[in-house]
Amino acid sequence: MIIAPSILAADLGRLAQEVAAAERGGAGAVHVDVMDGHFAPNLTLGPAVVEALRRATRLPIDCHLMIEQADRYLDAFVDAGAGWVSLHIEALPHLQRAVAHLVRRGARAGVALNPSTPLAAIEEILPEVDYVLVMSVNPGFAGQTFLPGTLDKLRRLRTLIGSRGLRAQIEVDGGINASNIRSVAEAGAEIVVAGAAAFGTGDPEAAVSGLLGACR
Ligand code: DX5
Ligand code: ZN
Repeated sequence: MIIAPSILAADLGRLAQEVAAAERGGAGAVHVDVMDGHFAPNLTLGPAVVEALRRATRLPIDCHLMIEQADRYLDAFVDAGAGWVSLHIEALPHLQRAVAHLVRRGARAGVALNPSTPLAAIEEILPEVDYVLVMSVNPGFAGQTFLPGTLDKLRRLRTLIGSRGLRAQIEVDGGINASNIRSVAEAGAEIVVAGAAAFGTGDPEAAVSGLLGACR
């Protein structure tokens, strides 16, 4: 199980220390939520912050692009140090081209789905991606409540990946905490994003190690 703390919920003035604490707690990646105020109703950060983060940690940087025309910014994020990049299927008409571009650039490519997007929408791209990011809240903010229908979606996705013999890993994002992390792990999630649950308590090291403990 990989815990990927989302810096959306961190104290950005102390970003390096916050991420170092999460890393000591056992974080396996750092999740960066990129929003443009169009696809998602919030404005967050861009490649410059990824570059700063790249200098602050050795963990893989997992960029979750919740933006329109994400294909225009792929090189900027990879050049800044993103090792994993997920793209929303709802925002990219030419998703396959963007996934192939990420693969050529040596990044791990993910496809992200909003809660209301059916799994059928990723049937064609599934063999080409390294991971599927299943949103368990609607994109926009940290600290929202986990949508319970996600558990069934995770189980169906795990079955789909298994039955087709594919390599895609499953990431889940939104509203995960120590009380529900075990259920998402049992449903098939291998990478779990945690915003408020990782950075909201003021002790990211203990919070991340608590999340890891709660899924055992
Ligand atoms: C929501 C973001 C999530 C969010 C997670 O749009 O994609 O990554 O930061 O935060 P929590 O875990 O607090 O829901
Ligand atoms: Zn995210």
